[in-house]
Amino acid sequence: MKIIPILFLITLIAWSGEWLSTPSLIVDEETPVARVLVELGDEPLAHQPDLSVGGASVEVGRDLVLKGIAKKPNGGKTTKQSNHFVCTSCHNVQKEDPDLSVSDPQARLEYVRDHGMPFLQGTTLYGAVNRTSFYNGDYEKKYGDLVKPARNNIREAIQLCAVECSQGRALASWEMESVLAYLWTLELKMKDLNIKDDELQKINMALQQGSMATDAIQLVKDKYLPGSPATFVTPPENRTKGYPLKGNAENGALIYDLSCKHCHEDKRYSFFELDDTNYSFQFLERHISRYTRYSVYQVARYGTSPIPGKMAYMPNYTLEKMSDQQMEDLRAYIDQMSK
Ligand code: HEC
Ligand code: HEC
Repeated sequence: MKIIPILFLITLIAWSGEWLSTPSLIVDEETPVARVLVELGDEPLAHQPDLSVGGASVEVGRDLVLKGIAKKPNGGKTTKQSNHFVCTSCHNVQKEDPDLSVSDPQARLEYVRDHGMPFLQGTTLYGAVNRTSFYNGDYEKKYGDLVKPARNNIREAIQLCAVECSQGRALASWEMESVLAYLWTLELKMKDLNIKDDELQKINMALQQGSMATDAIQLVKDKYLPGSPATFVTPPENRTKGYPLKGNAENGALIYDLSCKHCHEDKRYSFFELDDTNYSFQFLERHISRYTRYSVYQVARYGTSPIPGKMAYMPNYTLEKMSDQQMEDLRAYIDQMSK
């Protein structure tokens, strides 16, 4: 009769011992998404930074991304990565979409307006390390075979951008590891996924009990895109008529202020200046229906071409970065302001 309580006690001790030795992760809002996935048994992301490379650090990476220049490990400074741009000319470094499971340019425009950020052609670097494919969709058309090594390799994607998008020099290996280490500081957290309380509970249950892990992994992965989609589109066939949509000038003002002026105001990243004067708007208005590089339709949809290494160029806006409706909104604003 006495043996049962003793057995019970032993089981209890063994159970609590095991419980103490393998504490399972309790997921909350701040837990990194990548960590949750690994704990649930998903394959870890391959691109961890290698900080054993001499001189590599998060600080160097942050400086390279935000300023284009960094301190060398033995004193002195690196040369500028690019004479024309910094990474943040074209990429935000904060979350820029309210719902990470879709790429919706209007939702993004309103989100960046509310958070004091620009509206840009490149996808935010926030959460870049959580993606598994890069330069998706039609970027293959623009960069051809250069995209192949970059498609599933973030280091190659960064290098492609350093040389082709930034029109600058390639990053040395200690700089590359630094940029990657900095990008890991921008990894997604659970709170970025708008996860509901009951979903969080499900995930914690899966972690505690080791069951339903596949479902929990899927639940997490459905909350964000594994790569940023990109669809290249052409200007409207008839540039006088434009796209068959009615523009909203108020929305167009947001695009002008948060996107065009980010690069063109005070000639920040371009020799071509745009501001709020009548002159700017009349210039744009006069050229929009023409078949030249000064047509907003043309530059937005095709961008301009760089002379490799020698010139700044304007990246095109994919459909995911500016909808046809938003193009017409911008046009309506230009029309209104040129009067
Ligand atoms: C002149 C604009 C421009 C500059 C400067 C620039 N990029 Fe990009 N970058 C782009 C565009 C456009 C893409 C295309 C894919 C996307 O972001 O949606 C891209 C893609 C990327 C990608 C792949 C993103 C993805 O999800 O497909 C990474 C990573 C990246 N850039 C990092 C950098 C870094 C680091 C720098 C600075 C050294 C930099 N970029 C500078 C425009 C730029
Ligand atoms: C990421 C930075 C960036 C953004 C955002 C941007 N541009 Fe540009 N744009 C450039 C660069 C760089 C050039 C190349 C011209 C130069 O600097 O010499 C250019 C060229 C142009 C030109 C042709 C001028 C010429 O000399 O060939 C026009 C017109 C223009 N942009 C309008 C716009 C409008 C309108 C918007 C907003 C929808 C916009 N740009 C957004 C960087 C940008």
